[in-house]
Amino acid sequence: MIVNSTEILKKARKKGIAIPQFNINNLEWTKYILEECNKNNSPVILGITEKTVNYMGGYKVVSNLIKDLDSSLSIKIPIVIHLDHGSSFEACKEAIDNGFTSVMIDASRLSLEENIKLTKKVVEYAEKYTVTVEAELGSIGNNTKLYTNLEEAIEFTKKTKIDSLAPAIGTVHGIYQEQAKLDLNLCDQISKFTNIPLVLHGGSGLDEIIIKQAIKAGITKININTELQIAWSNALKKYLIENGRIYDPRKIISSGEKEIKRVIREKIDIMQSNK
Ligand code: 13P
Repeated sequence: MIVNSTEILKKARKKGIAIPQFNINNLEWTKYILEECNKNNSPVILGITEKTVNYMGGYKVVSNLIKDLDSSLSIKIPIVIHLDHGSSFEACKEAIDNGFTSVMIDASRLSLEENIKLTKKVVEYAEKYTVTVEAELGSIGNNTKLYTNLEEAIEFTKKTKIDSLAPAIGTVHGIYQEQAKLDLNLCDQISKFTNIPLVLHGGSGLDEIIIKQAIKAGITKININTELQIAWSNALKKYLIENGRIYDPRKIISSGEKEIKRVIREKIDIMQSNK
């Protein structure tokens, strides 16, 4: 069932668990993620960036692909079709117009006022289509860290009426060069004062204990991309070394299936062990 993120995040917050966002890269990944989340009875947010939307052939292709897989694989779990790190109103509008059920507007590079203005514009458009909106405040970069300010988070949430907030609390995208130091106290405060689901970007490579503490501090959605990429590409490289004569693309691409599914299973288990 294709849904927006309202109900699944609300329920997760109540239960003290988190919903995974797994990023997709192609047809095969989408299928593997849906199959494994369905098997483990976990709702899933399928995240896709603008770059990957272009890579896969456009917003319509992506949303139709997910909807068709949902039906042909008889998936029973709620699925959210989500634009990850939308960079402009136009990108979010295109996603919404083409069947996405959730968008992230990432205007964190702008000043607070400009971020509020742009995010509000997206929320007002999304509302008409009951599409949910996530926004970012602070900076969750690739090694640049600018922690979210609590007062700004309160003002931002109130003024924009977003559905969920991605605060910068010390995570980064990609591979961690050093042990991540999360400000969970800040996270807890933002959660209490904004009273909306919080999103943890840069969820790959975090210890189980940190993930569990983050959920306790108000994190309700956790984004995982890099770990799936590493698991899949390592398995594929190994397969090619061991099977140098194979040229069937189906065998080559699907050689990473088991590993992707293993990571998905492990992440669901960590995020939802007290389901
Ligand atoms: P990772 O790079 O840690 O997997 O983070 C993914 C993410 O936050 C996508 O928005």
